[in-house]
Amino acid sequence: MEPLIKVYGLKKYFNMSEGIFKKRIVEIRAVDGIDLTINRGEVFGMVGESGCGKTTFGKTLIRLLDPTSGHVLFEAPMDLIERLEGMDDGGKWELVKEYDVARFKGKQLKALRRKMQIVYQDPRTSLNPRMLIKDIIGEPLKVQGLAKGEELRRRVVDMLYKIGLTEKHMYRYPHELSGGQRQRVAIARALITEPEFVVLDEPTSAVDVSVRAQLLKLFKDFQSKLGLTYLFISHDLSVVEALSDRVAVMYLGKVVELAQTYELFKNPMHPYTKALFSAIPIPDPTVKRERIILKGEVPSPVNPPSGCRFHPRCPHAKEICKEKEPHLLEVRPGHFVACHLYGG
Ligand SMILES: Nc1ncnc2c1ncn2[C@@H]1O[C@H](COP(=O)(O)OP(=O)(O)O)[C@@H](O)[C@H]1O
Ligand SMILES: [Mg+2]
Repeated sequence: MEPLIKVYGLKKYFNMSEGIFKKRIVEIRAVDGIDLTINRGEVFGMVGESGCGKTTFGKTLIRLLDPTSGHVLFEAPMDLIERLEGMDDGGKWELVKEYDVARFKGKQLKALRRKMQIVYQDPRTSLNPRMLIKDIIGEPLKVQGLAKGEELRRRVVDMLYKIGLTEKHMYRYPHELSGGQRQRVAIARALITEPEFVVLDEPTSAVDVSVRAQLLKLFKDFQSKLGLTYLFISHDLSVVEALSDRVAVMYLGKVVELAQTYELFKNPMHPYTKALFSAIPIPDPTVKRERIILKGEVPSPVNPPSGCRFHPRCPHAKEICKEKEPHLLEVRPGHFVACHLYGG
């Protein structure tokens, strides 16, 4: 397996002013120190309750947002990564700066847009309502200077057929299409530049169940044909299970568990993951699973709890959980958990 993306200590904080005079600045720690690897050709799933930082992570990864700190290496050669990880001095990031998306500027950043793309949750808000479908799909090619004139038209038509629409949709506006068709257009727009990596941010949550299955099939087909790598974000666990090779579970800006999909669903270890998964309906009525109800609300990312940020809601919390932050440890092969129950 070859890493496509290596994330080191990624943080994204938002500053917001609060109070009647907007004088108090609060820091929202949406993404608060994430380390992970996304391998070339895999579907990397990400789950977690609303507000835990999934979208912010996805957008920061591809530099639609500027990170507060941390590094995102994209297409860095393996030998360089190995050298980097073997070093501990402060200057080591200089070694990989040409691959560090977090440091890209100007031309480099523009060129990156061709290679890293995103499909948002709701095509009603992500597609410009005043643009024709042909222009929406062709725009990234135009902006990147990759095609114009007849060539541009040919590629747009080609793409329309690939996503299951036809030439007759070219001169329509987004509102003239169904929800599923609009999402297909958003997918076409993201894929027309033939990116390496695509963030799918809850791409099927605004469509109904029958359309969902079609879109999932489309993602699969594109992946196998184009060798794409996806970050697949969703709060729908069954969809994540169906599509992902590995899954990370997020809680308040952190990854608390990460494993192969099969392993994670068979053997969830973190108390948060267990609670999250206990809400999945089991199709077999003879199998009973205890539904774990968590106490309290998800705390605010402005002042995350000390130690393990899950401790105020955790049924197993001990003294150490309030004091010391657990780190992701490999508890079983390829199965990482950040929890003091497992020595983290
Ligand atoms: N542009 C922004 N400005 C301020 N706060 C934001 C912004 N975007 C997201 N947040 C906050 O960051 C946290 C994580 O949000 P988000 O990444 O959208 O979570 P998710 O996608 O998991 O629902 C939330 O508390 C949200 O309110
Ligand atoms: Mg989101």
